[in-house]
Amino acid sequence: MILILSGSEDVGQAMMNIEKLTAFFKKGSLFSNLTEQELNQLAQIVRERKFDRNQVIFYEGDLGGSLYVIVSGTVKIVIMADDGREHILGLLDEGNFFGEISLIDGEPRSATAIALDKVNIVMISREDFVRLLRENPEISLKIMQTLCDRLRRTDKHVETLAFLSAPGRVAQVLLNWAENHAPGQDKAIDIPHKMTRQEFASIAGTSRETLTRVLMDFQDDELIQLEKNKIVINDRKQLREKVV
Ligand code: CMP
Repeated sequence: MILILSGSEDVGQAMMNIEKLTAFFKKGSLFSNLTEQELNQLAQIVRERKFDRNQVIFYEGDLGGSLYVIVSGTVKIVIMADDGREHILGLLDEGNFFGEISLIDGEPRSATAIALDKVNIVMISREDFVRLLRENPEISLKIMQTLCDRLRRTDKHVETLAFLSAPGRVAQVLLNWAENHAPGQDKAIDIPHKMTRQEFASIAGTSRETLTRVLMDFQDDELIQLEKNKIVINDRKQLREKVV
């Protein structure tokens, strides 16, 4: 895969005015308990940046300087082997934040962040982030809740990779996506899908060839339909039976 190095700090341009940024922060869950005035102040201290598809936002091992909040687009969080193979730890989109770990523990970045498509981001400096945490216990709690949620997902994913067959892993990944889109339901669902086969394979812990074979088998069994930029999951119940 081609990685475009992130450019200089002036790559980002002002994209939103203070009111729009304030409205964005109000909408998101992380800062929702701040007052209008605090949100307005926050909107004035953040920096905005744009990234293109495949542009690296930061690398694992970099020193952490800021917290990032996604305004639009999708960011993939990956760890990479020396030969360039990547394993996707998570996909984050609008309203999600990342980069908090190294700001909290003072260690280098624990993973690489790459724009999966065109991404707009706001950055909060370490100093401002730490001040926000100290002054707003609610924000600290929300950060902790997100960390717990990510740890649970990671534990679940380790379980998937460790114990399931290749078709089982692919079925589990599809079911996880379906669950994120429409929790607790069994009806057919369209999952918008911007990933390459290689990225999908990396999440399912298979080769691209195996993934394609398994997806074709699922399609032949009418469990799913593969369409341009989306996967339709027809039958979650039967797909669950493949999780072995
Ligand atoms: P930081 O270590 O500063 O830089 C990499 C970021 O990736 C990290 O903070 C988290 O915000 C994010 N991250 C690390 N592991 C995961 C994961 N398993 N799921 C989602 N996001 C993660």
